[in-house]
Amino acid sequence: MKLKILIIAILITGFISKDVSYDRFHPGKEWKDDRGEHINAHGGGFLTVDDTYYWFGEHKIGGKEGNKAQVGVGVYSSKDLYNWKNEGIALSVHENPDSPLVKGCVIERPKVIYNEKTGKFVMWFHHELKGKGYESALTGLAVSDQVTGPYTYVKSVNPNPGIWPANYPDSMKTKPVNLEELKAWSPEWKEAVVDGIFLRRDFERGQMARDMTLFVDDDGKAYHFYSSENNQTLHVAELSEDYLSHTGNYTRVLAGQQNEAPAVFKKDGKYYMFSSGLTGWKPNPGKSAVADHPLGPWTALGNPCRGTEEENMTTFWSQSTYVIPVIGKKEAFIYVGDRWTPENPIDGKYIFLPVEFEGSMPILRWYDQWDISRLE
Ligand code: GAL
Repeated sequence: MKLKILIIAILITGFISKDVSYDRFHPGKEWKDDRGEHINAHGGGFLTVDDTYYWFGEHKIGGKEGNKAQVGVGVYSSKDLYNWKNEGIALSVHENPDSPLVKGCVIERPKVIYNEKTGKFVMWFHHELKGKGYESALTGLAVSDQVTGPYTYVKSVNPNPGIWPANYPDSMKTKPVNLEELKAWSPEWKEAVVDGIFLRRDFERGQMARDMTLFVDDDGKAYHFYSSENNQTLHVAELSEDYLSHTGNYTRVLAGQQNEAPAVFKKDGKYYMFSSGLTGWKPNPGKSAVADHPLGPWTALGNPCRGTEEENMTTFWSQSTYVIPVIGKKEAFIYVGDRWTPENPIDGKYIFLPVEFEGSMPILRWYDQWDISRLE
């Protein structure tokens, strides 16, 4: 009898804990999927297909090893942005030690876009080779016929080898790369960085590409934004028509201004970007910028946060990863950031906040809980 009661109790508890249904966002709190597990999709990117949102992100495991890719890229789906169904692993790491995608490499900030012409779903991600820390600074590519995958790994590259950015003056191209003569972080070093000393160093090999996002414009052209030049300068690179390579048309953006975690959206014909500074997993003051074209020029707009001093210094304790355009609402957007927990990465939480505007400046305010009607 006691056993029966115990079994029934276990079943009921199991049922209750899985049957979570949300009708609003609770930024920074544990967020359960349809299996009753905390959503595991960090450094996320979002794609909408018809009336469904897909959330791709780094699948983390517990403990410090969880900062490396032990599983791959996870994907979730939702029709309301509150309740997410676990759709499994979209891109798996490889067991083969000779594969660049071998378990234990680094896969970060995956973003997926859909190519209307080829009917393929195209994923780009920040990729670091196993055992090499963050020195490879590669961008990886994987492709699938289905949105939830499985995605097939294609290649990893340092973009645009042998090609100068469209906005790089001829007079700079022949300047020396005398890095050993410069004291790191000295005013001379900083000037050399703004002038593109790392760009010139990497000219033949191809450029560094770390934190990244993708943006598809209304005309179907896709752009790859990534932290380049030792994270000192962003690059915006146009992708080919099939989205599978870089065309060679690219620009340096906010040279020497140290932007990571770019997240881009378009409103009223203008392009906006949220980004962060460089403090690793620790949060720092958010940044924003505006442009009339994805390739720039971009103008810095300052910290978008409107909170307490601590909230502004830490972007509400988060680092940007994406801005979601809300389906069915004209120009309504949601900021998505990560609240990283590098000691136990699987615990990382997500900060969803409405993007509000002060005139033409996008800003963020904190809400303990909120729903989409706030974006009316
Ligand atoms: C952050 C970056 C993350 C990850 C981390 C590693 O600055 O945004 O994606 O690369 O550094 O320390």
